[in-house]
Amino acid sequence: MTSSKISPWKETLKSIIAESIKETNLCPPMQLSTINLNVKRPANRSVMFRGFLGENQGNWEEERKMEEYLTEVTSSVLNPKFESDLLTITTDVRSTKVSQLLKNSEFEICWWFPSTGDQFRLSGNAYILPSPSNPLYKDFHSTNLLSPYLSQVIKFNWEQERMKYWYKCSSEIRATFLRPPPGQPILLEPGETEKQYLRQLNAISTDEEDKELVKQALENFGIVIFKVYFVDRVELYCENHKRTTWQLKKSDIGNDGEEEEWVERSVYP
Ligand SMILES: Cc1cc2nc3c(=O)[nH]c(=O)nc-3n(C[C@H](O)[C@H](O)[C@H](O)COP(=O)(O)O)c2cc1C
Repeated sequence: MTSSKISPWKETLKSIIAESIKETNLCPPMQLSTINLNVKRPANRSVMFRGFLGENQGNWEEERKMEEYLTEVTSSVLNPKFESDLLTITTDVRSTKVSQLLKNSEFEICWWFPSTGDQFRLSGNAYILPSPSNPLYKDFHSTNLLSPYLSQVIKFNWEQERMKYWYKCSSEIRATFLRPPPGQPILLEPGETEKQYLRQLNAISTDEEDKELVKQALENFGIVIFKVYFVDRVELYCENHKRTTWQLKKSDIGNDGEEEEWVERSVYP
């Protein structure tokens, strides 16, 4: 058993993701489980990992273009880049996963990497970052999220962060936020055909009509941020298989202070 303050699983996970992308050109989706309290059953779906919160993504030229965009749309100082172990996805805040996570923030992610033979299971609490004008914004409690990173982050503009993810979405994904709520039944009169929705949407509006559409889509666009407290890795492509767990433990550092520490264990697969 060993312990460390920085998350020891993050670099391993990042290198496995990089290996998968190198081999197959894509990162496998994650399986995200939430709890459906209405029927007291787990609920599971595939989602795409969109990076660790605060990290630099893309090459220098892409970052520069994005920063120009963010300065234009949020007219505020750019957020600092920082190292976190907070995983993120983008989603429609009207979706069932969001309402489930708002009732119970506990999640488990199961992530299988066929290229390297690794399974990662991560559990913890999820936070929903919607538009500041969305009524759900009052449920976004950011203090807990950034407290481990206060030495790197003094000020953080959450709306700017949300806009960063918006900018990085493809125009096809952006357009999906204009559709009726996910899961809503499609009700058609006899002979009626399904309405065609916009297929592509720019990050930034070019005319008045576009401006209204971007505003409407952004109201439904959100980020889910995962604060992890337990990780379980199984390595299948090695002799006898291997399994490691990491648990985040809080330790008392006196003067009412608390520190977080990761405890690593090798266990039988
Ligand atoms: C490969 C794959 C990736 C997906 N990625 C996302 C994603 O990143 N975010 C998301 O909200 N839905 C994603 N979906 C759709 C979800 O699996 C799900 O159908 C949808 O979000 C509605 O789920 P819910 O009703 O449980 O909220 C993806 C589906 C597939 C098959």
